Amino acid sequence: MCGIVGVVGNTNATDILIQGLEKLEYRGYDSAGIFVLGGAENHLVKAVGRIAELSAKTAGVEGTTGIGHTRWATHGKPTEDNAHPHRSETERFVLVHNGVIENYLEIKEEYLAGHHFKGQTDTEIAVHLIGKFAEEDGLSVLEAFKKALHIIRGSYAFALVDSQDPEVIYVAKNKSPLLIGLGQDYNMVCSDAMAMIRETNQYMEIHDQELVIVKADSVEVQDYDGNSRERASYTAELDLSDIGKGTYPYYMLKEIDEQPTVMRKLIQAYTDESGQVVVDPAIIKAVQDADRIYILAAGTSYHAGFASKKMLEELTDTPVELGISSEWGYGMPLLSKKPLFIFISQSGETADSRQVLVKANEMGIPSLTVTNVPGSTLSREANHTMLLHAGPEIAVASTKAYTAQIAALAFLAKAVGEANGNAKAQAFDLVHELSIVAQSIESTLSEKETIEAKVRELLETTRNAFYIGRGQDYYVAMEASLKLKEISYIQCEGFAAGELKHGTIALIEEGTPVLALLSDPVLANHTRGNIQEVAARGAKVLTIAEENVAKDTDDIVLTTVHPYLSPISMVVPTQLVAYFATLHRGLDVDKPRNLAKSVTVE
Ligand code: G6P
Repeated sequence: MCGIVGVVGNTNATDILIQGLEKLEYRGYDSAGIFVLGGAENHLVKAVGRIAELSAKTAGVEGTTGIGHTRWATHGKPTEDNAHPHRSETERFVLVHNGVIENYLEIKEEYLAGHHFKGQTDTEIAVHLIGKFAEEDGLSVLEAFKKALHIIRGSYAFALVDSQDPEVIYVAKNKSPLLIGLGQDYNMVCSDAMAMIRETNQYMEIHDQELVIVKADSVEVQDYDGNSRERASYTAELDLSDIGKGTYPYYMLKEIDEQPTVMRKLIQAYTDESGQVVVDPAIIKAVQDADRIYILAAGTSYHAGFASKKMLEELTDTPVELGISSEWGYGMPLLSKKPLFIFISQSGETADSRQVLVKANEMGIPSLTVTNVPGSTLSREANHTMLLHAGPEIAVASTKAYTAQIAALAFLAKAVGEANGNAKAQAFDLVHELSIVAQSIESTLSEKETIEAKVRELLETTRNAFYIGRGQDYYVAMEASLKLKEISYIQCEGFAAGELKHGTIALIEEGTPVLALLSDPVLANHTRGNIQEVAARGAKVLTIAEENVAKDTDDIVLTTVHPYLSPISMVVPTQLVAYFATLHRGLDVDKPRNLAKSVTVE
């Protein structure tokens, strides 16, 4: 989703902005732009499409200070006029913005009569408002910005420059992520640490409703009334090599391949020297104190919640309910007396989930965030955090974060169950079972050529497909179908195998691809019955089975793993199915159309 990068006091400003925007590409965007000042003249450059197209227009663009933006269209189409940065009426003030301004039409009506707008964005209205207060009403830049911030409602991260003053970038945030990066004799601002890691690993957080005055040699944090706020910096643990593609053609393939390593990293992170599972006692207590766990998430993370439900319920003796964050934000169901909210979020920034967390905090409901990003908004604002230790996930289609989420929740379930004396938890040798999972994934990964050939045969020309499964396999089917549709654009549904005949089987015709998942010894035979039903109606079936239920005729056979962890190993061939189907269609695996990695708007 939209990304911001800014730099003040560095003669390489243009390069820093372009490289920063390239690092933000993975979040998803459809246009981009930069404004550079502090050189012989000021430059505003915008382009629809990829950063490469923007970069091609920057010959001769030089300066010491600048702001840049990748836009994922919300208000108005992806055009150059709508791309950021936007300028005030006189073009003196220049602004980039992430988020959504709720009252932009009211602001336009109330304050900006007679102003001329180039595009349809809410951002342009914000910068016109600031410009009006400074130029028409005679306020200083800082006062004008503050006055506007008191009026603007909604979510935002703003970076503002005065084209007459290359010494300073003004930033403010509310609900949208923004960080300060501290360089040697220069400073940066950015919506994602990833875009600054080449320059610095020293960061400073900004809280909601704070304004920061960023100069080359100083950073001053204030509230909107001008009171100074102390803020210490911290060192980020990101490693530049983590965010490179290495020899891989796509991040997605690299991230699929990293999954065995991630399993082992999780074992390291959640065990002590003697191999005992270790989870923060405060988190264990939070689960013990709850009479019901509510998992809130979006997209792939929501599916990881389903895949972990049975394990959490059986090991912690606590019922688990799932909620789609964007639904709960506007209507909480009747809750139990002692709820615990668990937010699962790869990025830790998803606006829909954050909206629920804000409400949970208001209601005094204890919360745990399971995320890959330390210091992310959901992590900071929840009572507790468990980290995924998966390393940065760059491809829009989430792979290693999903498997890490289930594994992290397995540590939680095991730790709570052991503390409660739950017999199943005591018998569940998680460390051993996860190392079997890692081996199972490795053996699936060694079968890429076979999987690719089968995918070519099954999916090369189809417009639609189905995944079916029962129990845990149904949950994996949901995730597998999301993966396939989000990057290959093949319309795909994940179905509970037994439910298909109650309506949707009407869509099966000669040649319709149906991918069946089989891991559970009791349920596999029933799913096989459903396979017969679709095959009899002309479906082309591909079966993915664990060894313990496999038959000679199955297409892809996986090493058997513990049933609680089967979603982790079962999902891997389906990730490869999506990857190869996309590759065969000549599409960009890492950057699917319309999607964003980190969805920071509602
Ligand atoms: C976006 C991404 C999905 C992701 C979802 C939730 O829609 O494209 O891949 O699953 O957000 O993101 P989160 O960071 O909260 O896990």
